[in-house]
Parts: sequence; structure tokens; C-alpha cells
Amino acid sequence: MAKLFATKPLSVLMADAQETGGHSLKRTLGPVNLVALGIGAIIGAGLFVRTAAAIADRAGPSVVLAFMVAGIGCTFAGLCYAEFASMIPVAGSAYTYSYATMGELIAWIIGWDLVLEYAVGAATVAIAWSEYANRVLDWFGWRIPYAWSHSPFETAANGAHGMMNTPAVFILLLLTGLLIRGTRESAFVNGFIVVLKVSIVLLVIGIGWGFMNPANHTPLIPAPTTYTTPQGIVHHYGGIMGILGAAGVVFFAYIGFDAVSTAAQEAKNPKRNMPIGILGSLVICTVLYVLFSYVLSGVATVEDFRTHGREASVAFAITKYMTDYEWLSKLVTVAILAGFSSVILVMLLGQSRVFYSMSRDGLVPKIFSDVHPRFRTPYKSNALFFVFTGIFAAFIPEDVVGEMTSIGTLFAFILVCAGVWIMRSRRPDLERGFRVPALPVVATLGIIVCGAMIYGLGWTNWARLFVWLLIGLFFYFGYGRRHSRIDEATP
Ligand code: ALA
Repeated sequence: MAKLFATKPLSVLMADAQETGGHSLKRTLGPVNLVALGIGAIIGAGLFVRTAAAIADRAGPSVVLAFMVAGIGCTFAGLCYAEFASMIPVAGSAYTYSYATMGELIAWIIGWDLVLEYAVGAATVAIAWSEYANRVLDWFGWRIPYAWSHSPFETAANGAHGMMNTPAVFILLLLTGLLIRGTRESAFVNGFIVVLKVSIVLLVIGIGWGFMNPANHTPLIPAPTTYTTPQGIVHHYGGIMGILGAAGVVFFAYIGFDAVSTAAQEAKNPKRNMPIGILGSLVICTVLYVLFSYVLSGVATVEDFRTHGREASVAFAITKYMTDYEWLSKLVTVAILAGFSSVILVMLLGQSRVFYSMSRDGLVPKIFSDVHPRFRTPYKSNALFFVFTGIFAAFIPEDVVGEMTSIGTLFAFILVCAGVWIMRSRRPDLERGFRVPALPVVATLGIIVCGAMIYGLGWTNWARLFVWLLIGLFFYFGYGRRHSRIDEATP
């Protein structure tokens, strides 16, 4: 029993972090790379696809307040991540932080849970990528048939059945190849995409501002009522409940700032640069999101989003209201495609780094920490996760994987908020590059806000999380517990 709650000594963690032998990861990322890594993971399907759904089903123009609520919740968690990452700059992120504070069993649970955030998250965005890829192919009179671009659980309005989402598997394969090639190469491609997608967001805000119709923003918070979606699901619409429901929907748009912390072992001067990367990317994206959703909900009407603009919301709004800017509509679609790629890239990177750490601790097989002799990347791990994410992306519908990603992430955020507090009271002496201000208050608020969003996701998702964690415990007691190297680590 005691072993289950054995914590990994910090001295050992630090030695891991400083190791520079031939088997370790390379320190190549500076502050700008880290902020770019965060933005690369953050701006994606959440902003470009879910904003429209939040406006249509839940909040109307008060979506802008929903982005603020979700942003505040993420800021609490982000502050806690920043303290941890500046104190324990190793690759495992929340997994490693829990190992140092709450013991091996909780660490395992969180490591296993992070698979939902990173691997399943990558699969979710790969599915969104597939939809947009088809749209671009359409311009050239080409289209991948429905059966080969949807999961077997989906049926089109004309009765066509999905079989396998091949474009989603294709993009996962391409990006896995890039990751194996090297972190610096991946960071370079990511940086390029980040510049492109931030420019597009700024262009839409700048040009769209002049096309806003004040009537669309009046009243900013619609009177509380309900809205029934075309699938027959009833949502609170308007009022406070509408804003909170929409915050749960757009939370997905913020996922990713924490992925910066998984690159801690590849960061130069992590004590200073980790908090810059995590909080910098979060702040920049929050500002962009609030402005973007304000403009989008001002240009088009709620009715537009309900009837036409759900998926291609931005392109649709531009085409309908901003005539003369058709080029922008096309550019947005291409930028979105590139933008989704960088989200997938950083998620896959984060996933392999978490399992790298777990494997070094003996909790998962050594294959996950074998580093390529020349590229110095965990290539076998990347390849195995390609298979795993590929199966999810090929055969499961987007809303299921999307909600699993959200609940997994929220659960991780809660444990990190709790962990930072525990660590502060147990090891106040430890050097921290960054300290959470007003700690118990911020950590408690983080737990409450994330807990409320988990509550909002409903029982199907709680059940999915529970089953996933049970499967994880099965693996832990079957493999991890017996191979754990914690005994070697305990002085
Ligand atoms: N935040 C990421 C996205 O919106 C996961 O796609």
C-alpha cells in the first residue's frame, strides 16, 4: 500500500532534468519557440469550428463572455502549470508533478489520463482536418468519397455510410514522420504555421470590424430560453446558463497551453522560459479569441450560424457579408488547414514526451523511451502513438473524441491545481522560477471552475473517463507496479 503512494524524490527528478547523456532529449527551444509551441497547440478547431456552435446553440453574441469565462478558468490552471514547470522542468508535465507530490498511483492515473488530452485530442483535430481538406479539394472539383472520409458511426443526409476516415490517418502519418525527424525541425514548421494562423485571425478581426452590424450585438446577452438543435438536443440558450454552457463548449479552444510544459526537457533555461511559454501563449490567445468571437458574432446573425455556418463559420460569414473579400475566405480555409496541423503536431509531441517520462520510470515499457541514435527523438513511441491515434481518428466520430479530450484535460488541470498547493506546503524551500500569486485561492478557484465544466459535460462523459481510468488501473497493476523503478529512486 505504501508503495502506491511513494513519491519520486525531487533530487532524482532534478538529476533526470539535468541529464545530458546520449539518451536524453536535446535542449533547443528558447522563449519565442515556446510561446509559438503554445499558440501552435491552442488555436485550432476550437476557435474555427466550435465558436459557431457556441453562438448558435447557447450564447448568441454573449459568446464573447463565454470565451472570457473559459479563459479565466484556464488562467488559474495555467498559473499552477507555470509554477510546476519552472520548478520541475522535466518532460512528463502533470504526470511528473503528481509523482513528486501525490505518489505513484495518482501519477499513473494522470499519465494515463493525459493520453485522452494529447493522443485523443490529436485524433479529434485530425478529423476536423479531414473535413477541411475535403473542402479545399472541392475547389478543384475533387472530393474524397463520404465512406473514405468518415467513421463507420456516421451517415450522410443522402444515406451514405462512413467506413474509415483516411485523410485523418494521412495527416497523422505525415506529422509523425516530421516529429521523428526532430524537435527543432518540428518547431520550425510549427513557427511558420503560427505566423500564418495568427495573421489570419488578425486579418479577420481587422477587416471584419468594419462589417459588424450593431443589431447583432443587441442585446449582448440574449434573454434566457432554450434552443433545440437539429439533432433534437435541448440546450439552455441566453442568460447566465447560456454563457456557462458556451464556456464548456469553447474550453476546447484553450487546450494546448499546458502542452508547452511537456517540452520542458527540451527548453533552454526552463526556470525562466517555461512560465513565459505557458502564460504568454495563453494570454495572447485569450485576447485574440475574445476579439475574434466579438467580430464574428457581430458580422453574421445567430440565425446564419444555426442554418448554414456551423462548420465553415468564418468562411461563410465572410462570403455572405464581406463581399469583395472572397480571397480572404479562401485564405482562411487554407490557414485553418495549416493551423490544425500544428495543433496535431504539438499534441503528438506532448504525448510522446509524457510516455517518455513514464517509461524512464518503468511504468510503461522501455520502447517508449528509446531515442533515435541520430535524430534524438523517441521514434518508436511516435510510431506506436501513430497507430493508436490513427485508429481513433479513422473509426470514431469527432464529437465523441472531442468531449473525451475535454474531460481528460479538465481532470488533469484539477490534479495540477491540487498538486501545486500540496507541494507549496510540503516543500516551501524549493527554488521556483515562478510562484502562483495568492495560491490557495487561485488553486481552489481552478479546481472549482474546472470541476464545474466537468459537471457540465454530463454523465456519458463521466462514464467514459471512468472506464478509461479503469483500463489504466488494469495496466498499472498488471505491468507498471511490478516494473516501477521507484525503489531504486528512493534513497
Ligand atoms: N485548442 C486546440 C484546438 O482548438 C485543441 O484545436
